Amino acid sequence: MKDRELLDMAREAAKNAYVPYSKFPVGAALECADGTVYTGCNVENAALGSTICAERTAFLKAISEGKRDFLRIAISGEGPNYCMPCGACRQFMHEFAPRMEVLCTRADGRYVSYRLDQLMPYAFEL
Ligand code: THU
Repeated sequence: MKDRELLDMAREAAKNAYVPYSKFPVGAALECADGTVYTGCNVENAALGSTICAERTAFLKAISEGKRDFLRIAISGEGPNYCMPCGACRQFMHEFAPRMEVLCTRADGRYVSYRLDQLMPYAFEL
């Protein structure tokens, strides 16, 4: 799958975001090693700390369906800055796929690509 297709799926997923507080929809599209793609969006809560980011929504969907091997995740936000994963999501994703590719896009459609272990060096591991 081309980067652009995965990014488009992430952008589409953001349409389901529940964001009454931040008004900042985020979408994610997670590509598994078997070629399947799980999407996610951010789901906010009045208790703001209970908010779930788009990336973790996509991961939880995939993991709870039995998937364990991940190749790439595309993250779509409509701000002027590239939509980078937050610290909690970096740690969460690192548990499963430290070498996965992370594509981060912004409003004008441009994107940057990193390997997760570049974004999350020295992650906590037991
Ligand atoms: N958010 C994500 O869903 N993913 C990110 O990569 C960064 C932040 C969400 C959390 C919150 O709902 C909104 O963006 C603003 O912080």
